[in-house]
Amino acid sequence: MSAAPTARQRTRRAARYGGLRFHTDRTDVVGLLCVRQAAKGGVSTLASTPAIHNAILAKRPDLLDALFTDYWRSRFGEEGTGKEGSSTTRSTAYPLPIFGVRDGKFTSHYSLTFIEAAQMAADIPKLTPAQKEAIDMLMATAQELCFEMTLEPGDLQLINSHVTYHGRTPFEDDFAAGQSRLLLRLWLTMANNRPLPRGHEILWRSIEAGQPRGGIQQVTL
Ligand SMILES: [Fe+2]
Repeated sequence: MSAAPTARQRTRRAARYGGLRFHTDRTDVVGLLCVRQAAKGGVSTLASTPAIHNAILAKRPDLLDALFTDYWRSRFGEEGTGKEGSSTTRSTAYPLPIFGVRDGKFTSHYSLTFIEAAQMAADIPKLTPAQKEAIDMLMATAQELCFEMTLEPGDLQLINSHVTYHGRTPFEDDFAAGQSRLLLRLWLTMANNRPLPRGHEILWRSIEAGQPRGGIQQVTL
């Protein structure tokens, strides 16, 4: 399977892209199919969130508690809340802990980009010093525990997003050589998915096991 570079890419010789920090996607399972590799870099990084939880429990249990408290996340205007036209705080952002457990099943939902964006709004509660320190510990621990995966053309990566952070190292494309990174992403909701903690319906809408959920609800204008 292959896909030809676009006309715009053919007129450029090369391009550089920054890395992606560890995060989860809003789906039960993330699939990535590698079509083409970059000329350089673009390595997939994966870290187990239960392992990160256990490492922080051992090192700094006080910071672990902070990760179970609400962190406000921006909606980036990308999803509907059913209250379009409203200027309430909850129409632009929502509170959600980074870690949660229900019925013995762990989940983490995390993207620093969405937390940082929410912090720029005047009416969003500011992160506490403990919450900021907990994020630093989370990122450092993910980096310590992660492993790298180099996807080759034809490789398909499937990860459980409730228990895995994923990221990517910086990469460079060389269009003249036909080495421009192309991966196809798939978001899957699973019939055997886990129950999610009370309160997570603000993001997932359905938190019961075995129900379809995730994705981005479109804004209706
Ligand atoms: Fe992602």
